[in-house]
Amino acid sequence: MSSTGDQDTTQPADAARLLGEDAHTSPALSTAATVERSDIESLHRDEAIGDLARPQPTVIMESECVENGDGHGRTYDTFRRGRNTLPNGTEEQGRLNHQHDILMRLMDGNLYLAPLDPINIHNVLDIGTGTGSWAIDFAQRYPSAKVIGSDLTPSTPLLVPPNCSFEIHDAEEDDWSYSTPFDYVHGRLIITCFADPLEIIYKCFDNLKPGGYLEIHDLSPLEFEGDVSRSKPIRRWMDLCIEASTQNGRPWNNAVHFAHWMHEVGFEDVEERLFKLPSNPYEGLSAHQQELGRESMQNLSSAVEALSLRNFTRTLGWTPAGVRELAAAVRRDLSEGVKAYCTARAVWGRKPL
Ligand SMILES: C[S@@+](CC[C@H](N)C(=O)[O-])C[C@H]1O[C@@H](n2cnc3c(N)ncnc32)[C@H](O)[C@@H]1O
Repeated sequence: MSSTGDQDTTQPADAARLLGEDAHTSPALSTAATVERSDIESLHRDEAIGDLARPQPTVIMESECVENGDGHGRTYDTFRRGRNTLPNGTEEQGRLNHQHDILMRLMDGNLYLAPLDPINIHNVLDIGTGTGSWAIDFAQRYPSAKVIGSDLTPSTPLLVPPNCSFEIHDAEEDDWSYSTPFDYVHGRLIITCFADPLEIIYKCFDNLKPGGYLEIHDLSPLEFEGDVSRSKPIRRWMDLCIEASTQNGRPWNNAVHFAHWMHEVGFEDVEERLFKLPSNPYEGLSAHQQELGRESMQNLSSAVEALSLRNFTRTLGWTPAGVRELAAAVRRDLSEGVKAYCTARAVWGRKPL
């Protein structure tokens, strides 16, 4: 395993050239048909999930976002007894799309870092796809690949390329009965999702072709430069997020184990690359990092509440008003120039031939 190194990766633009395509030329976008959740669930039951030999429904899905008992003004998915602790309403979807743009900038426009051979990438799975931005972009860049975005909670993308489809699939509890193995499985920002990430990595391994790649990108909890007191709201908030997520059995500081877990499962040539993502435009950053910091601050300011409302009220016994007060103090710390950043971690490995 190499760490934070430069590696000879095929960049998407090069890859598109290899395919004889302009990376910026999209296949025709189709407007998503809306399908009721009950239809989707019966699709799940009645047909093997993700049977790539059959045409997939181009899209999905009318969201069953309901503001349930403890929504506190946010909407959450009710699937699996509302296990998902993050909201899924329009505000959160907008935030995820903005975060996708930030991560694309951080990665210099690269959708992946694994040394994929795009000519041989036919079937792709994006687990925990969220709003589907990554899946849609990948499908647009590589029109000959069939891309499935799967998620516990339905997404409602309006424009979907014909080679991209979405499915409701609980990667933890549902059967992974894909009839065709994948060339590439991708998961991004999934640290909050799984009680047993190692088990998910095994499922990815089992559903890849020999020679196929798994790639996971995730963010660390906030880290700080200089002397930031534990009593400062932003640091306290982060400590509480880790405490709540650990109590929930889905700790947010698990990404450091991804590379080791991939080795354990049997992936070879596992590589890891780290990027620094400033959470605000604090003093001492380069112009590029300042720009990323400005975007991140906007995103995190909206995320603070989304990330903690359900977690703190359900798990730590906080009141919604208490969470909102702390969230306001966190936003203040960010705008006053606290030196906070995340480590973005990209890890990938190949299933042996
Ligand atoms: C933070 S979002 C990341 C979305 C997307 N990957 C991105 O990078 O923008 C995490 C997503 O994982 C989904 N998720 C949570 N638990 C899941 C599970 N057990 N199976 C599948 N998806 C899950 C959530 O519904 C949410 O859409």
